[in-house]
Amino acid sequence: RERGDLAGIRVLVTAGGTREPIDPVRYLGNRSSGRQGIAIAVAAADRGAEVVLLAANVDGEVLAEVAQDPAVRIVPVSTTAELDSTAHAAAKGARVVVMAAAVADYRVAEVADRKIRKEDAPGEAPTLTLVENPDILVSLVRERQDNQVIVGFAAETVDDEDELLERGRRKLARKGVDLLAVNAVGWNEGFESHENDVRVLDIDGDVVAAVAGSKREVADALLDAVRDELDLADS
Ligand code: C5P
Repeated sequence: RERGDLAGIRVLVTAGGTREPIDPVRYLGNRSSGRQGIAIAVAAADRGAEVVLLAANVDGEVLAEVAQDPAVRIVPVSTTAELDSTAHAAAKGARVVVMAAAVADYRVAEVADRKIRKEDAPGEAPTLTLVENPDILVSLVRERQDNQVIVGFAAETVDDEDELLERGRRKLARKGVDLLAVNAVGWNEGFESHENDVRVLDIDGDVVAAVAGSKREVADALLDAVRDELDLADS
């Protein structure tokens, strides 16, 4: 591996999707595979970075791509609370933070300590009460380290590119990140064909990268934008 343009840079990447337990055998979750986050971790390592990868429920098969990489330290997590505490700890030593994980917005208020059984309340569907999770990204921005570059992700259901960028710009301001990678879900022919179709917005809301391609290509385009931010912070 050659020394790349991220040599010596510590990068924290979160990938996958958090799960919120309902009882010992059930959870609320999302369909994030973690592939985009893993591609970012691999690309950053290839460019010389030391990577900490917080992997939220990522399949072994997907993780296999980084499992043997000495430049990537993998920390498996599951719930949003676990991701929250590990992300804050790992962010302390990181120059770059990329929050690619899909974080559950809500968790179950009271997790049952035994399996919920139909027999216990015949004919009565249980009601799950949810409470809002903390926004990890917002709190990382609030505790931002000197010169740290923080990147967020947003998957939006929109009618067209204008709406995508408008929503992205609003989210960028709300979260306070340096860069936001936005992608449309459910656009034109649907989710699949656009899953790697990404725009990267900078703090001014300008599109600094537009890439439709493999997750690795998206990862490298995003890291190019990160590199520019690092240069800016160092100048
Ligand atoms: O608001 P939304 O969920 O679209 O924001 C997405 C971005 O915020 C992602 O980078 C995601 O990792 C992060 N996020 C977070 N904590 C939450 C919800 C989202 O860090 N509770």
